[in-house]
Amino acid sequence: MDRAAYVSDFLQEDAMLRTVRQRIADAGLPAISVAPELGRLLTLLVKTARAETVLEIGALGGYSGICLARGLGPEGKLISLELKPEFAELARDNLADAGLADKVEYRVGPALDSLAQLAREGWRFDVVFIDADKPNYPQYLDYALALSRPGTLILADNVLLGDRVLDETLPHPSPVAMRTFNQRMKANPRLEATLLPVHDGFSIARVLP
Ligand SMILES: C[S@@+](CC[C@H](N)C(=O)[O-])C[C@H]1O[C@@H](n2cnc3c(N)ncnc32)[C@H](O)[C@@H]1O
Repeated sequence: MDRAAYVSDFLQEDAMLRTVRQRIADAGLPAISVAPELGRLLTLLVKTARAETVLEIGALGGYSGICLARGLGPEGKLISLELKPEFAELARDNLADAGLADKVEYRVGPALDSLAQLAREGWRFDVVFIDADKPNYPQYLDYALALSRPGTLILADNVLLGDRVLDETLPHPSPVAMRTFNQRMKANPRLEATLLPVHDGFSIARVLP
């Protein structure tokens, strides 16, 4: 048995999540949902934070949305932002099949527009998970902070960007933006943060009191 098989055996990804991963593939969407071990981490972090309000930026087919919503208490709410209506529809169907329809609200359109609207509505979130287009990660962090309160967890996937963040000479928008994002996570005095070198890099920060 290799390491991946050992971890897979440990996790025992359930039938619902396996079905969702298959539906995403069948619908022709890219295989860019979070890995099962990160999905389980999302559930554990939402539970540990006793989060009542969770914000997801980037829904795809709802895999991470299910993991986040599973961590919520009875009154908890997930707001999930997705650019593409057809992706949001698949995600909505998948969360409904997982028995989580009453916990989630999808907002369709460019996330920066939805975030501005959430700010106008006065939302504050206990957990924010950033997993959408990479060039906007620094702005997503700004909004995550604006929509936070002390103790909020800010989570982000793909922060190593296939190790392209390591090469400071790369001029492309995604690595430039991700280096800015990582620098701000590291240096913002309002945050205590870690960067886990698992998969494509996953960071976790807590907003300080
Ligand atoms: C990596 S996938 C999200 C995966 C999902 N979090 C999961 O693990 O199941 C990124 C998603 O962000 C969406 N996206 C890209 N640009 C966006 C934007 N400007 N606003 C909102 N969503 C965006 C894409 O359509 C895609 O569904």
